[in-house]
Amino acid sequence: MSSGHPGLTNDFQEKGSPFNWSAENVKEIEIIKSKYPIERVQSAVMPLLYLAQKQNDNWLSSECIEKISETLNMPKIRVAEVASFYSMFNLKPVGKNLIQICRTSPCWLRGSNKITSTICNSTKCDINQTSDDGLFTVVEVECLGACSNGPMIQINDDFYEDLNEKNTKEIIENIKNNKPNKVGSQTGRSSSENAE
Ligand code: FES
Repeated sequence: MSSGHPGLTNDFQEKGSPFNWSAENVKEIEIIKSKYPIERVQSAVMPLLYLAQKQNDNWLSSECIEKISETLNMPKIRVAEVASFYSMFNLKPVGKNLIQICRTSPCWLRGSNKITSTICNSTKCDINQTSDDGLFTVVEVECLGACSNGPMIQINDDFYEDLNEKNTKEIIENIKNNKPNKVGSQTGRSSSENAE
């Protein structure tokens, strides 16, 4: 297994392949930049980091940071400062499925420790590691904003809520077997309505 939190790394930062914006993202960047006053266009750094990460297999290489720096005409270190502050930006390669486990108090009180153990056993990854087959990276994060439906996790862009050991294991097994998963509440409740 390879180790290292994809969003919190001491050896900032890994080199990747040459990076150029896709034609689709070139158009998208123009739309994003048009939302900011010309003298404040560097404020578009967050959406551009997001776009670059999406285009680059869910992580930001040194080449991505350089491209954003060039696109927004801002120092590379300032782009890197923003990228390294937020845990949603990955500064190292991650597995095909990035599993973020909420460990903050409301989820913890509802059993997030058991969810973490289940995920680590099922994926054969420890926290901050990527599985040998590249299918999973597992990290712990702070509150993801779905506290009333904890314990919960995020896998890539999707939330999975109202988890227990059984339904968590099923989610992981479905991914391994290329089967679709139901996103959101795993117990069928709508939004954050009363669980009882
Ligand atoms: S505490 Fe887990 S989502 Fe808020």
